[in-house]
Amino acid sequence: MTAPPSLLDPGTERDPHPLYRTLRGNFPLVYDEPFGAWLISRYADVRAALADPRLVPPSPGPAPARREDGTHGTHGAYRALVSLALGDRVSAALAAGVERTAYVLARRLASRQEADLVAEFCQWLPAAAAVAALGLPYEDTARVHAWCRTGLDHLGGRRPGLDAYLRPHIVRRRAHPGDDLLSALCTAAPDGRPLPDEAVTDLAGTVLGAAGETTARALASFLANLLDHPGQLDLIRARPELTGGAWAESLRRDPPLQIVPRRALEPIGPIPEGATVACLLGAAGRDPGRFADPDRYDAFRADPGELAYGSGRHLCPGAPLARLTAEGGLRALLTVLPDLRRAPGPRPRAEGLVSRSPRTLPVCPR
Ligand code: HEM
Repeated sequence: MTAPPSLLDPGTERDPHPLYRTLRGNFPLVYDEPFGAWLISRYADVRAALADPRLVPPSPGPAPARREDGTHGTHGAYRALVSLALGDRVSAALAAGVERTAYVLARRLASRQEADLVAEFCQWLPAAAAVAALGLPYEDTARVHAWCRTGLDHLGGRRPGLDAYLRPHIVRRRAHPGDDLLSALCTAAPDGRPLPDEAVTDLAGTVLGAAGETTARALASFLANLLDHPGQLDLIRARPELTGGAWAESLRRDPPLQIVPRRALEPIGPIPEGATVACLLGAAGRDPGRFADPDRYDAFRADPGELAYGSGRHLCPGAPLARLTAEGGLRALLTVLPDLRRAPGPRPRAEGLVSRSPRTLPVCPR
């Protein structure tokens, strides 16, 4: 057998799918020496690895989700807080924020001959929606947007500027809670006591980081896939209830997080204790053993799976919010820009090894 290929081989970042094919076919579990991790690429194996309690997110990490050492609460307690923050009341606030913002952004494009949907829509909608959901002033969106884009860590982390910015808002919410996400966090008392300011800013930062970066990337791939298939887009225009499936299919084919890392707590088969394992979501989503014609974008695919959000105890709790953002965004675009189509010229390629999406999406809005 030939030497195993590496994620760091030239050309992989430009198009990882030939490598993914080779890995799934010939090296389903293999150590990638240049990359420094064991690679897992088949759908069933990735799913099992993500759910395996012997494989944990690498630590130490900056994000609260990674603090499984008890210093900032257990993982279970942290998840409870996130679920609380993402409860029904918050989703309603986010839905309103998404809707309002999506229409504002779409109307700005309405008179233009050409526009870049990534820079002018995808990067703003999730950030602006999170601002609206948190109940922060709309005019602060540009500032908060910048925090959303700092670092590629989906799970947030500490941002000193953000802490200072949020402090006066937290003080105000504690005194006069409203019907927004920040108020929900400020009034939460999971163990009978209010959350400390640090926990509130951590959770707000997590929402901003995840919404700002990951959802924006997923949205870019989603819109690119639909604009590449105008026939499918027409059907969705006529039957908007199909949007959720079209979104799930885009996440299968082009997950924004291509690689989720893990660390082995004990030896597992050939994987030694302490080794890093890379779960290749991008490869799993196109596994022909799981999906027929896996490279094809089919908005009406019966079962596109859900691996783009992970699996097991770290399954993404933001999935409903991300879906809401995609549905609200597409609805506004199709309503305000009925003639929206791809601009002439080559299709911009997706870029990135870990976080992957097209960096531009030139369109003709009218
Ligand atoms: C399309 C958009 C999104 C995708 C593809 C996505 C994907 C993922 C994935 C793959 C994981 C698992 C990471 C792991 O196993 O280590 C994860 C975890 C997480 N996501 Fe998302 N996410 C998205 C949107 C969001 C949003 C909008 C939020 C915000 C509230 C969010 C909050 C989180 C949190 C808090 C975790 C950690 C969960 C845990 O460790 O228990 N995500 N996400």
